Amino acid sequence: MFVASLYNLKGGVGKTASCVNFAFMAAKDGYKTLVWDLDPQGAASYYLNAQPTVKGNIKKIIEHNLDVTDAIVATDYDMLDIIPADLSARKLDILLEAQHGSKKYFKNLLKQVSSVYDFVFIDCPPGFSNVADNIFYASDAVLMPVIPTTLSIRTYEQVKSYFESKDMDPGKLMCFFSMVDIRKNMHNDTMLQLYKDKRFFEHYIPYMSDIEKMGVKHAPVEVYAPSGFATTCYRALWNDIKEGVLE
Ligand SMILES: Nc1ncnc2c1ncn2[C@@H]1O[C@H](COP(=O)(O)OP(=O)(O)O)[C@@H](O)[C@H]1O
Ligand SMILES: [Mg+2]
Repeated sequence: MFVASLYNLKGGVGKTASCVNFAFMAAKDGYKTLVWDLDPQGAASYYLNAQPTVKGNIKKIIEHNLDVTDAIVATDYDMLDIIPADLSARKLDILLEAQHGSKKYFKNLLKQVSSVYDFVFIDCPPGFSNVADNIFYASDAVLMPVIPTTLSIRTYEQVKSYFESKDMDPGKLMCFFSMVDIRKNMHNDTMLQLYKDKRFFEHYIPYMSDIEKMGVKHAPVEVYAPSGFATTCYRALWNDIKEGVLE
């Protein structure tokens, strides 16, 4: 089982959109795939039309009152399941503190499903916290969407420093450009600068209205725009990621 988390310190950078699209593509490739929605806003659950099996599911999982397997629901798509988020995920940090703040907690929980799934994609809330530490520890790859602006370079450096300060394997951190507007000089210049870092996948996701429509269509882009450019871009990037992580 390979665990990939979609993470950025910042919100609104395309974590959830990419999480849902990569997970859908992994499932379509024949990998048994699980999305774990850990953002209390529940956008990944919304895109995949999924409701929690019980109220307070995340709290109950953390407090050992609900098995991970009993929180999983099927989506409308073959090979793709999800643990939907509910508002109890808002208090994840406090819930984890109550479990002695161990950073190994999520990794242990995921052992319950390690023989069932090939891929787990975690949709993360933004920020540095005990939750992030747990997600990083549980992840084989931390996939970070980066909008190529000056401020994003700063965020990217902050995340790299955080990895160093916590003694985490920096090799886990893999980045890609998101919401790119290639007509903007700032985007081009930033990409050229950051590509030198070798931590960025070659393919990137442009800013596209077909991706924005996920909220209206309640579906991954490949479902409603299978031959559109957005699908081509996500496929190309997903292939880069597969090569990068499965080599
Ligand atoms: N490549 C893109 N092009 C256009 N809109 C996008 C793109 N990626 C995401 N969006 C939209 O931008 C908003 C934020 O994206 P989202 O994936 O929810 O970010 P995050 O999970 O990082 O907060 C959403 O409304 C989403 O539909
Ligand atoms: Mg999100």
